[in-house]
Order: sequence, then structure tokens, then C-alpha cells
Amino acid sequence: MSMASLAPISQCHTLLRKPSSKLNLSSSFIPRDLPFSKTQSFELPRMASKSYIVSASTKEMSRKRYPGEAKGFVEEMRFVAMKLHTKEQAKEGEKEVKQPEERSVRQWEPTVDGYLKFLVDSKLVYETLESIVDKAAFPIYAEFKNNGLERFEKLANDLKWFEEQGYGIPGPSSPGVTYAEYLKQVSENDPQAFICHFYNTYFAHSAGGRMIGKKVAEKLLNNKELEFYKWDGDLSQLLQHVRDKLNKVSESWTREEKNHCLNETEKSFKHSGEILRLILS
Ligand code: HEM
Repeated sequence: MSMASLAPISQCHTLLRKPSSKLNLSSSFIPRDLPFSKTQSFELPRMASKSYIVSASTKEMSRKRYPGEAKGFVEEMRFVAMKLHTKEQAKEGEKEVKQPEERSVRQWEPTVDGYLKFLVDSKLVYETLESIVDKAAFPIYAEFKNNGLERFEKLANDLKWFEEQGYGIPGPSSPGVTYAEYLKQVSENDPQAFICHFYNTYFAHSAGGRMIGKKVAEKLLNNKELEFYKWDGDLSQLLQHVRDKLNKVSESWTREEKNHCLNETEKSFKHSGEILRLILS
């Protein structure tokens, strides 16, 4: 609750509201040419909400599709995520560089101390995600138990290795603690938002995360490959299995719930960006 009590009133409202009671299509990271995209954020009155559903289904055949929609909801999440990268991070990126971690990884000047902070905070985030999934406060979370992408134990082993090499392991820092708190909070009352963070964290790590690991290992660790970057089994199969599950659980979501999930992507980038930035601290 610390996040909510410190957050401005407008943000508290967002955190506390029921996920499907409000449409928010005004966001800049939902592409502009989407259906309804010029609509401002608004509250749907009960009656209007009914007629919205009716008109959506009668117009189903002619309605414009969301980018990636035909392939499944994971493709929609991916589309929104790719646009939130900078060009320097990924070629599909569209955001302008504002933070040090948004520059090309080739230009990074990482430090071991910074990297250790990043690993410690990542461990806290994965531990939080994995315990939320294990507890499964919402039944859909149980779909993701033991999916093979888990990273907590791998990171715990890596940090043990650093300790054996004589490095001091720092305690978690504010970006990781803040994100873990936020994840716990959304997981309890906003499953669509939680699923967005779940997807982005694990899939980012399998893509850009691995690239970062390789570059940092070259520069700082004499090419030592950490367990954080190794999976038991074939990574692309594990990812595909989780994609299928994500597509399945989101099938029963309304369009509003899907948009709410997509709208959470920016927060995922904000928190993960702050944790990545530790590498350069
Ligand atoms: C320095 C930071 C980052 C770099 C260099 C980076 C780079 C990349 C690259 C190269 C891809 C692969 C694109 C492709 O399929 O061709 C990718 C995919 C992706 N990234 Fe990032 N990224 C970074 C940060 C982030 C962050 C902070 C997030 C969100 C938390 C994120 C989420 C994703 C997602 C969801 C994908 C799609 C993965 C998939 O389709 O399997 N990335 N990123």
C-alpha cells in the first residue's frame, strides 16, 4: 500500500478502480489509428455499457482490428511493447532516448557494482512474480505455474557465485522494492494489469535481456555466462508454451479489459527501465 498512499490522487483512482469499469483509450502508446483511439478516457454508464457491447457485436464484421489482434493477444502486447523501445534498443522502437539505458547497449559503460544492484533487484522482482503465480489469488495465474521461464533460483545461484568470487552483495534498492510492491498490489485487484507485467518481464528478459547479459559479460565478467541467461530446455518452446497460455487466458477478456492490459505496458517499461538503469550506476 505504500505506493498507493504516496501516489497522487489521480493515480490512486487508477489503482483502486475495478479493472473493467472504465475505458481508457486515450493513451499515447496505444497506436493512434486504432478503432476508437480518438476517444478520451471516460466512465461508461451502465446503460451505455450494454449498448456498447451490442453495437460492438453487430458491427463485429466491419470493425477495424487492433494491430496483432488476428494473431492473438500476445501479438497485441508485443506490438505495444516494441513501440516503447527506442530505435537504439530495437529496430521496431519509436520512443526517443531520454534515459541512459535507452541508448544502444554497445555504448553502455556498465560497472560490476551497478550490475550487482541490477541482479539483486531483478531477483526480488522474479521472486515476487513467481510467488504471486504460485499463490494464484486469481485462478488464471495458476496457468503459469512451473512454466520453465522462472528466474528466481537462477539469480540466487548467480549471486552466490559473485559472493564466492569475493564481491559484496548489496541489499535490494528502491527501483526493485518499489516494483515488487506495485506487482503485489496489482496482482490482488487487477489481473489484466498483472498479466501485462508478467508478459513484459519474462519476454523482455528472453530478448533484450539476453543481449544485455552478453554485452555486460564481455565487458565485465570475462565472458562468464550467468545462469540468469540459461534455461532448462528449449527457450523458444518454453516461450511458445507461455504465449499459448497467455492467448488462452485473455480470450475471455472484454475489449476494455484487453485495452486496460495493453495500457499497463508503459508502467512495465518505467519500472523495468529503472532497474536496468542500475547497471549504469
Ligand atoms: C536496454 C533495454 C532493452 C533492449 C536493448 C531491448 C531490446 C529488445 C530487442 C532487440 C527485442 C527483439 C525484437 C525482435 O523480436 O526482433 C526486444 C523484444 C522485446 N522487448 Fe525489449 N529491450 C529492452 C528493454 C525492454 C523493456 C524495459 C521491456 C519491458 C519491460 C521490454 C520488452 C520487450 C518485449 C515484450 C519484447 C518482445 C519479445 C518477444 O516477442 O518474444 N524490452 N527487446
